[in-house]
Parts: sequence; C-alpha cells; structure tokens
Amino acid sequence: MRQLQSISMTLFATLMMAGLTGGCGGNKKADTTAAAAPADKSLYDRLGGLDAITAVVDDFVANVAADTRINAMFANADIKNLKAKLVEQICEATGGPCKYTGKSMKESHVGMNITEADFNALVEDLVKSLDKFKVPEKEKGELLGALGGMKGDIVTAQ
Ligand code: HEM
Repeated sequence: MRQLQSISMTLFATLMMAGLTGGCGGNKKADTTAAAAPADKSLYDRLGGLDAITAVVDDFVANVAADTRINAMFANADIKNLKAKLVEQICEATGGPCKYTGKSMKESHVGMNITEADFNALVEDLVKSLDKFKVPEKEKGELLGALGGMKGDIVTAQ
C-alpha cells in the first residue's frame, strides 16, 4: 500500500507540475520513478497496477459486506468471483492489460431492483477504500467517473 500511496502521490504531483508550470522543478528527491513516468500514464498505472487494484477491491468488498444498507443483497453472492470480476473490470476500464470476462452490467444486476440509494451506498463503500489507500482526488475522480457511467445499466428501481 505504501507503493500505491507513493506512486499515486508522486504522479499526481508530477501531473500538476506539468500542467501548471510545464516543467519539473521543486521536488528533487533521489527517486527516478517520477522522472521516468510520462505524464500520460494510464489511470491503471497511476493507481499502482494490479496489486493495488486488488487490494482496493478486497477492502471495498469487505466494506460492502459490513454495510447493512446493502449487504443483504449480497447474501447469495459468490464473493470470490465477484472480487475477481471487479478487479478485471477496473483493470480494463482504467487502461490496464486485463480483459473483463464477466457478464455485462445489465445482465449482472437484472431483477435486483437496485435503487439509486443502493448505488450511492456502494460508491461510498468504494470511496472509503480509495481514501484509506490515499488515492489522490484526481485518480479517485477518474475511477468514479468510469464506474458512474455504468449506473444506467445497474439502477433499475426507485
Ligand atoms: C458501479 C457499480 C457496480 C459495479 C462496477 C458492479 C460490478 C459487478 C460485477 C463485475 C459483478 C460480477 C459479474 C459476473 O459475475 O460476471 C457484479 C455482480 C453483482 N452485483 Fe454489482 N456492481 C455495481 C453495483 C452494484 C450495486 C449497487 C449492487 C447492490 C447494492 C450490486 C450487487 C451485485 C450482486 C448481488 C451481484 C451478483 C453476485 C453473485 O451473484 O455472485 N452491484 N457487480
């Protein structure tokens, strides 16, 4: 997790510097990571790759399991499969090397009567994990934006 934190923070700082000043002044640590990292690195890389995404998903699913607002809906879920599919999905959606092999979001959630409140509760559980792992606001916003685009296929009840 240190790795996720430091890589994310370093890259976030690098991107900000590039955007604001067009250069890389200030931070002269003995660290070649930032210098080698292109500003257009994928979100997948900026998040810290597969290990970091897997750690976030593990923590996120634990939050969902403890969340009495929505955990009853997961009573019969195959948690191992759910975690694996979420990792694949996030990896692919953020520009990583994975291929999502699960069902479509429509198919996965059909008949579950998921409301916007349920959806928001799940997103809150994810944000808790992203904050715990100190994912910077920029990367957090990009990831939530990508997942937010799936809402129309998941929320089917009022
Ligand atoms: C951005 C939001 C969401 C994403 C990205 C997402 C993603 C997924 C994925 C990847 C699967 C597995 C598909 C497969 O097995 O092929 C799944 C299944 C499932 N999702 Fe979601 N989901 C979201 C929101 C929700 C919400 C809000 C709920 C309910 C509160 C929910 C409940 C479930 C349940 C119960 C399953 C089935 C698990 C099983 O039968 O093993 N999901 N979801």
